[in-house]
Amino acid sequence: MSNQSKTTKVGDASGRGSVAGYRVNFPARMRTYSEAEIEAVVNVMRNAEVQTQGNYMRQFEADFKAYSGANYAFAVDNATSALRLSAIMCRIGPGDEVIAPGYTFCASAIPFGTTGAKLVWADIDPETWVIDPKDIEKKITPRTKVLLVVHLLGMPVDMAAIMEIAEKHNLRVVEDCAQAPGASIHGRKVGSFGDFGCFSFHGAKNITTLGEGGMLTVKSAADAAITPGLRHNGVRPFTGERARYWVPAMSNVDIDLENTWPNNFSIGEAQCALGSELLKTLDQNNDILIAQANRLRTALSDIPEIKFAKIPDGYRHIFHQFVLHFDGSAFGKNRNDLLDFLTEEAGIRAIVQYHPLFRYPLFQKLGAAEQNCPTLDDWWDNSFSFPWWIGMPDETMDYLVDSVKAGIATLKAK
Ligand SMILES: Cc1ncc(COP(=O)(O)O)c(C=O)c1O
Repeated sequence: MSNQSKTTKVGDASGRGSVAGYRVNFPARMRTYSEAEIEAVVNVMRNAEVQTQGNYMRQFEADFKAYSGANYAFAVDNATSALRLSAIMCRIGPGDEVIAPGYTFCASAIPFGTTGAKLVWADIDPETWVIDPKDIEKKITPRTKVLLVVHLLGMPVDMAAIMEIAEKHNLRVVEDCAQAPGASIHGRKVGSFGDFGCFSFHGAKNITTLGEGGMLTVKSAADAAITPGLRHNGVRPFTGERARYWVPAMSNVDIDLENTWPNNFSIGEAQCALGSELLKTLDQNNDILIAQANRLRTALSDIPEIKFAKIPDGYRHIFHQFVLHFDGSAFGKNRNDLLDFLTEEAGIRAIVQYHPLFRYPLFQKLGAAEQNCPTLDDWWDNSFSFPWWIGMPDETMDYLVDSVKAGIATLKAK
């Protein structure tokens, strides 16, 4: 394969998408839309008068509330906006601290950094690979105000431990569920434990509302009361009888947002109609991902150099991504050596995701370079993701497994 073929890419920002020269690509989306889903969008285009914040949004919110078990649900334009709304409602600023996982997509932390609060990085649990409650406890100071936990890759964080810490120290809890719609712990869905749950329907997610979309779940009535105003420029209809409907104006800009400037984080009706449709098959599609993951994990279970996250009993990990850890230290090789084999020799576009945030120049320049996350630092340099989508053929999975085995045998022989 020439260098030219590897660089002529048509993928998205994360490196997903069709890239010339690979036998197994990493698609930019998890699956194609069904006819019913297409029809839901076209129906809004043909028939709906209201294009934003209408009945389809209210229906999607009701459907998501029922699905997630959360007290309140508000549809937004993406998960970053949901996180931003959470950060605003946490009422934090300079002098406060937010404990966040060092291992996550940058969008988890940016909305909290934006407030001026300090980001304090927590390590990952060595077995589950998501934020470690024991490390969080060590990093709490009198300035800590918020615990931001991320159910990364679809793996639920230990929410019993998180809520216990939060209660003990009087902290607010934000769950980043961008990668975990439908993930649960003993049947209780993520996003229903903390003060806020932030879901993404971005183009690469398990469900996507045409590339962008999100949902904010909220626990308290007080936060829920101000969310619509914060989401849409503080605009509300005037209430009560008026002699002339246009006096004093068509709508009120409600200033009762606890002295906070609002935003516009609204989502369109067609996306909401699609969202309701997508929810109907979310569990079924997550089941497909879980079955695929089980097949791959079983097929690679006799390879001592390859490890997977341990899934605690009663946890539903919905496998938004399929991540492996490779330890070739016994024969002087590392993850990059194996990836060279998989990409160059086997034509598999495996990728490496979620660089620890404290390593990025953006976070370093903005004062979040300090870290003490030894497990993550060591683990991350040896982890990688297989190409992954809903409905991956058995032959493709077998090829991935055979290629890893061949790669390790080749590296050992070198
Ligand atoms: C863990 C995590 N948090 C937040 C986000 C932000 O989601 P969105 O693209 O919907 O703003 C993403 C999206 O990739 C994510 O993976």
